[in-house]
Amino acid sequence: MGILDALNWRNATKRFSDKKLNEDQVKVLLEAIRLSPTSYGLQAFKTVLVKNEKLREQIREVAYGQSQVSEASHLLILCSQTNIDETEVDSYKSLIMKEREMAAADVDGFINTIKQTVNNLDSVTKQVWLSRQVYLALGVLLSAAAVEGIDACPMEGFDKEKVDQILDLPAHGLNSLVLIPVGYRHPDDFYPKLKKVRKPLEEMVIYK
Ligand SMILES: Cc1cc2nc3c(=O)[nH]c(=O)nc-3n(C[C@H](O)[C@H](O)[C@H](O)COP(=O)(O)O)c2cc1C
Repeated sequence: MGILDALNWRNATKRFSDKKLNEDQVKVLLEAIRLSPTSYGLQAFKTVLVKNEKLREQIREVAYGQSQVSEASHLLILCSQTNIDETEVDSYKSLIMKEREMAAADVDGFINTIKQTVNNLDSVTKQVWLSRQVYLALGVLLSAAAVEGIDACPMEGFDKEKVDQILDLPAHGLNSLVLIPVGYRHPDDFYPKLKKVRKPLEEMVIYK
C-alpha cells in the first residue's frame, strides 16, 4: 500500500476488535517512534506501553470512558519530559561519540549550541518545545501504523494529571500528552465507512 492509500485507509479508530497485535508489530511501532526526527536529535521524551489491564481500566475512567483505551490490543502513551538539562545533553554527546566513533573535540561545537539553546529557554517555552517533539513522533507513529495496516486512535481527551498520577509519571520526570490505543478496528465500527472529511488541497496550500 502506498502512503496516500494508507493515510486514506486509516482513521481515528473508535471501536477495536479482540484481535491482538503480535510482538513484532508492536516493535515496529515502537521503532517508528524511536526513529522520529527530534530537535538536535535529543529524543527527550518517552513512550509508556501499558500492559497492566487494571491500569488500562483506570486510565479509561479518566478518559471520559472512551472504550478504545481498554479494548484495543495495546495502549501506548507518549510522554514529554518535564525538563532537560546539561547532564542529558552530555549523555547525548557520549552517544554520538560512541555511535559515530568521533572525538569529543569534533562534537563539542554542536553540543555547546544545544546547551545554549536549552539554557536560554524559560520553563514554559522549554515545555512547549519538548512537547513539540512528542507530536512529531505521534505523526510518524500514525503514518507508520497506517502503512503497516495497524489501526490507532490518537487521544487527548483524558485528564492528564490523573493519568500522570495513575502511572506515577512525575517520579520519572514525565507528563502524559497523548494516548494511542493500537490494534485492529472492529468489523462493526461504522466510522471507517464514512467519507473522510478534509479541506480541498487548494485551501491547505499557499503557493508563492
Ligand atoms: C492530538 C489529537 C487528539 C485527539 N483526541 C481524540 C480523542 O480523545 N478521542 C477520539 O476519539 N479521537 C481523538 N482524535 C481524533 C480526531 O478527532 C481525528 O483524527 C479527526 O477527527 C480526523 O479523523 P480521522 O483521523 O479519522 O481521519 C484526536 C486527534 C488528534 C490528532
